[in-house]
Amino acid sequence: MKRYIILLMITLVVLIFSCTKDDKVTPTNTNTIDTPATPFSLATPFGFPKIVIPTNNPLTVEGIALGRKLFYDPMLSLNNTQSCGSCHNQNYAFTDSTLRFSKGITGEIGTRNAMPIMNLAWEKKFFWDGGAATIEDQVIGPIENPLEMHETLTNVLYKLNKHPEYPKLFKRAFGTDSITSQLLMKAVAQFERTMISANSKYDKFLRGEVELSQDELKGKELYENQDKGDCTHCHTFGSTFTDFEFRNNGLDSVFTDLGRERVTKSILDRGKFKTPSLRNIELTAPYMHDGRFATLEQVLEHYNTGFVESPTLDVNISLAKKGRLNETEKQQIIAFLKTLTDYEFINNPNFKKP
Ligand code: HEC
Ligand code: HEC
Repeated sequence: MKRYIILLMITLVVLIFSCTKDDKVTPTNTNTIDTPATPFSLATPFGFPKIVIPTNNPLTVEGIALGRKLFYDPMLSLNNTQSCGSCHNQNYAFTDSTLRFSKGITGEIGTRNAMPIMNLAWEKKFFWDGGAATIEDQVIGPIENPLEMHETLTNVLYKLNKHPEYPKLFKRAFGTDSITSQLLMKAVAQFERTMISANSKYDKFLRGEVELSQDELKGKELYENQDKGDCTHCHTFGSTFTDFEFRNNGLDSVFTDLGRERVTKSILDRGKFKTPSLRNIELTAPYMHDGRFATLEQVLEHYNTGFVESPTLDVNISLAKKGRLNETEKQQIIAFLKTLTDYEFINNPNFKKP
């Protein structure tokens, strides 16, 4: 035994001295690995703002692969039956099929409609009320939510640490086989950052590869026209199709879900929700934070005539004239919205269950 300790100490000393200044290896950690993970560079798609990857969680091939495995692993739930992928299904741009509310592992349902997982690399806050400030932070929520995976972090870490494969995979990705919540969050976040949707018909149109039909072009114009659709004010026209803000778009006059107020505790935020991106909107029905609208026709009618007054109603909605869109115009806006469907995204083999 003594001999081993001496040997270990010699190895450590050698290690310390062979380390250059830039090495991130902490000499006291015997679990550090010799081969560092392979850096992965995420290309910014045409027309999008530059992607900024946080310096404390650089993307690596091994980290992304590990995050993907975890995303689809039901081990993250209490009874090992539900993974992130159970509610975030690729065929529906990573929303929960056509369900209004997702079922948790106990069969109980939540109160909010599952959000798509796409283009999170540009988002600034996560969940309908922005309750998570980073992609990393967002990972723990669903695991511990009793209406979702209903598991404790302690238990997930216990299961992962005694698993035959995971310690090795974490070691390859992060240089240590001691799995912590931080590393779990980092791995899943790395995978999520790669889930980019930027190859819809509209993107191809921007790149000059395809033409839009007359109706789609008219819809695009109406979408931007301040006296007509005026969708641009919030679902910013261009690349991400969101302004990343929290707004009240006139769904209710009395709020059962306080939205952003839950996080900020400010009454000025009552009934405000994150402006969702409209990419892949054709695939993510039903609509709004509580999935109250089954179709895009209903959504358009909401903005055309259905919106209601409340103290926090967004000025862009309250200034809009009711009945400003006729049937054809509504259909044309919908035709434009459907050009935002990205079939490559929903079929991308890199995002499927490994
Ligand atoms: C039981 C269904 C369910 C499971 C399981 C689930 N989610 Fe979700 N997810 C939702 C719902 C519902 C929302 C919206 C919650 C809210 O806003 O309060 C959501 C929101 C999100 C968002 C926010 C997206 C945005 O644009 O702000 C991300 C990211 C996310 N989930 C990732 C995950 C990850 C990672 C896991 C696994 C650790 C997971 N989800 C497991 C249902 C689920
Ligand atoms: C004042 C800002 C604002 C304007 C203007 C606006 N929206 Fe929205 N939109 C939002 C917000 C905020 C939500 C989320 C509301 C919620 O769920 O409580 C939303 C939700 C949606 C949804 C549902 C998305 C989902 O994932 O469930 C669709 C579709 C949509 N808007 C389309 C449009 C169209 C089309 C227009 C123009 C006719 C438009 N919006 C104008 C702010 C706006």
